[in-house]
Amino acid sequence: MSEPLTTRPTVTGISIFRQPPPLCTFLFLIVLFVATFYTLNHPNTTPPPLLTSQNTHYALNLHRLFLSSASNSTISSYLHALTRHPHLAGTKPSLETLDYVLNHFKSLNLETHISEYEALLSYPTHISVTARFSNTTTVVFDLNDVHGDDDDSSVVKPYHAYSPSGSAQGSVVFVNHGEERDYLALESIGVKVKNCLVLVRKGETLGRGGIVKIAEDKGALGVLIYAENDGGGLGGIERGTVMRGIGDPVSPGWPGVVGGEKLGLEDDQVTRRFPKIPSLPLSLHNAEILLASLGGARAPVEWRNSGRVGPGRTVLNLTFQGEMKMKKIYNVLVTIRGNEEPDRYVILGNHRDAWTYGAVDPNSGTSALLDIGRRFALLLKSGWKPRRTILLCSWDAEEFGMIGSTEWVEENVLNLGASAVAYLNVDCAVQGSGFFAGATPQLDSLLVDALKLVQDPDVAGLTVEETFKSQNGIIQRLSRVDSDFAGFLHHAGIPSIDMYYGADYPVYHTAFDSYDWMIHNADPLFHRHVAMAGVWGLLGILLADEPLIPFDYISYAEQLEAHRDTLTKLLEGKVSVNPLSMAIQEFSMVAKEAADEAKKLKEQASNKSDVAAAVKRRELNDRMMLVERGFLDAEGIKGKEWFKHLVYGPAAEPESKLGFFPGIADALARNSSEGIIEHEIWRVARAIQRASKALKGGFT
Ligand SMILES: *[C@@H]1O[C@H](CO)[C@@H](O)[C@H](O)[C@H]1NC(C)=O
Ligand SMILES: *[C@@H]1O[C@H](CO)[C@@H](O)[C@H](O)[C@H]1NC(C)=O
Ligand SMILES: *[C@@H]1O[C@H](CO)[C@@H](O)[C@H](O)[C@H]1NC(C)=O
Ligand SMILES: *[C@@H]1O[C@H](CO)[C@@H](O)[C@H](O)[C@H]1NC(C)=O
Ligand SMILES: *[C@@H]1O[C@H](CO)[C@@H](O)[C@H](O)[C@H]1NC(C)=O
Repeated sequence: MSEPLTTRPTVTGISIFRQPPPLCTFLFLIVLFVATFYTLNHPNTTPPPLLTSQNTHYALNLHRLFLSSASNSTISSYLHALTRHPHLAGTKPSLETLDYVLNHFKSLNLETHISEYEALLSYPTHISVTARFSNTTTVVFDLNDVHGDDDDSSVVKPYHAYSPSGSAQGSVVFVNHGEERDYLALESIGVKVKNCLVLVRKGETLGRGGIVKIAEDKGALGVLIYAENDGGGLGGIERGTVMRGIGDPVSPGWPGVVGGEKLGLEDDQVTRRFPKIPSLPLSLHNAEILLASLGGARAPVEWRNSGRVGPGRTVLNLTFQGEMKMKKIYNVLVTIRGNEEPDRYVILGNHRDAWTYGAVDPNSGTSALLDIGRRFALLLKSGWKPRRTILLCSWDAEEFGMIGSTEWVEENVLNLGASAVAYLNVDCAVQGSGFFAGATPQLDSLLVDALKLVQDPDVAGLTVEETFKSQNGIIQRLSRVDSDFAGFLHHAGIPSIDMYYGADYPVYHTAFDSYDWMIHNADPLFHRHVAMAGVWGLLGILLADEPLIPFDYISYAEQLEAHRDTLTKLLEGKVSVNPLSMAIQEFSMVAKEAADEAKKLKEQASNKSDVAAAVKRRELNDRMMLVERGFLDAEGIKGKEWFKHLVYGPAAEPESKLGFFPGIADALARNSSEGIIEHEIWRVARAIQRASKALKGGFT
């Protein structure tokens, strides 16, 4: 069992990694460092875990130095600076945040540049909701979630980006979470929403855009969405985008570079990205007033809601006036050049733009990224030279639909395909307690290994791995499209990880997502930030430095088998999954061969002068790197062709019982013919065959 490395901040002034040192200096340095380290931090501990067969002590000390140089107070000062003003993408204050991040990395002497795009963003100019109740009272709802304080005037009013401008007037129907099955339940009690406004209580499965899409299809005139968790009683209102798909809407599928091709707003490819009916977020308080006034039929029993759903005599006027504007957006990229394989890339990314102050979303992640930059600079000073190149990325305009990262992925898609090892995403680093992660399955065991090295921020004496395991220990799969990993994984096929502390938090996208809220609720002492930065940075170091990329494809094969089994159950023998089974069987065999090959190469890895072994390692690494690309399909997922990954990606229907194989999931949810389902199964089977061929190498 491994023993955690401390993440407590220490003053580390010793340079221990000047040059790849000759053996005797090396031993001396180990003694020196271990002595320093243990006397300071570990008065009586057992020997630490071994991470690599090659240069074990070097790697170990590197990890120790990285973890021990963490500082909660430094991270808190970064977060404080980043969250001083609201910094919505495309607005002036967002440029201050940009400068702060840029100057931080530059002042560390890290190679830093900006990648700039133009994108169509959306802002409100006028919003109002007026209700006329059956008692003839008219109420103009208060749609703000900031009151009084002058300083808060720069907080954007709660709105839905890319809602069309216009007014909708009509009676109101409460449609629960706004899912397809909710409308069916209403129909079964004779309630239709055509020509009404719908009031939606945001649930867990269906996102804002999906809610509006379904309401539109049902003939509703407008949509009001409220969150039951209104900022933990603070009266927060949840902003968000309702755009369909991700990336800049006027450069769909290609990079929105300055001076590049931009479609007109009337272009069919652009208009289909936006809803046709206006929508707004509403506070819980206002939603309750509305609900109480509805009248009409009783709510379907399965909603466990005693009230009435309307339509009654309450009439609403929802008005949204907005403007869509082309705005410059700015990604910041830091390059830490690899020493031995500079043309292979490990990418760490987080977005910078926020709906309001962004203390949780996303700047808890940004402050962790800035601290990783500081500590990597320290390692570099101590002589560290990563084997592969590391990129630290700060994305812009994520909140509008992952725009900064998507444009960058679109611009660099070929080079990413040829040279990206992995993408490690952290958006909301800390929103509460408990570690959560999603990953593509070849990264599972590396993630667990990294968790074993980091001290749990909440339970003394335990590692993050130990508490993670005792909570649930489930690593999710990344089919969701809710942060910047989407372009990397779903479009470019880059193995990805996404991590966060806390399952959920009440001030999401509200004016209360502030530094103050963070220190009173989510992370008073910034220990969770420290733990997240520790895991994230270590993953970066391990992926950049290990001579053999630490991917486990046996784990991927097992996950595919489990997915196949779930699918089989769902199909109830109506359609054969044989092609899929055969493909997975082959993948599993090739994965075992690759693991054996890796094991053999690891044994040779200590012999630096063995050029032939180095060539073999590089060759195996390339094959392991390419596997995920095999799951991409040129045609993409039907109806959302930009999404190319056939194992993980967005399924259209929230009712879909599969969190994987999106093409098959869609076919099932649409009640497609057996032939269509079979075809989708074959497509996934062929994708897995491509992945096997990539891992095996050579030609048929
Ligand atoms: C009219 O009805 C609304 C909604 O039920 C309620 O909030 C309001 O207080 C009522 N006004 C009067 C004057 O009764
Ligand atoms: C709805 O409200 C808007 C904004 O206050 C107003 O311009 C519009 O005329 C109203 N619509 C109706 C049908 O009353
Ligand atoms: C950092 O952690 C220490 C030890 O738990 C604590 O005393 C200190 O207040 C923390 N600093 C900040 C800024 O939270
Ligand atoms: C290292 O590899 C070289 C080249 O294959 C070989 O000549 C040498 O004997 C090896 N050294 C060790 C210690 O195995
Ligand atoms: C699905 O299709 C079958 C056969 O075409 C039909 O019997 C069934 O009612 C459909 N189910 C749904 C939910 O549409």
